[in-house]
Amino acid sequence: MADDQAGSPASKPGPVTLTVCLTCRNEGADPEATRPGTLLHDALKEAGMPEGVTLRGVKCLSACSRSCTVLLTGGEERWSYVYGDMDPEEHIPEILAGTAAYAATADGLVPWRERPTAFRKQSVARIPPAAFPSEE
Ligand code: FES
Repeated sequence: MADDQAGSPASKPGPVTLTVCLTCRNEGADPEATRPGTLLHDALKEAGMPEGVTLRGVKCLSACSRSCTVLLTGGEERWSYVYGDMDPEEHIPEILAGTAAYAATADGLVPWRERPTAFRKQSVARIPPAAFPSEE
């Protein structure tokens, strides 16, 4: 995949946002308990975002079967990524490391070997920048 070959240092850093689904919950979870998505968001908020990254929570990223889900976006020049199966008790360090690596690129394409394991194995989708040309 071409995704594996890319990656470049930021020449003009743009706004990076880590979006966390607040309403994600695992199958069979207690409906009255705080949702794991909210726990994930709150744990990331407490940990603090890498420099230049904004954290936000939204209700559903439409990847509910891959709870908990997060989305990385970074302006007009960067690819966007959706990651799933994130565990609030396990993946905070990896999400922060992956977010910092993403924010350090100009195009959002972090070299494969530099991505945390969770970002390598739990990608749900990558979305090209709006102006990215057709590859047909
Ligand atoms: S509830 Fe989290 S993606 Fe839908």
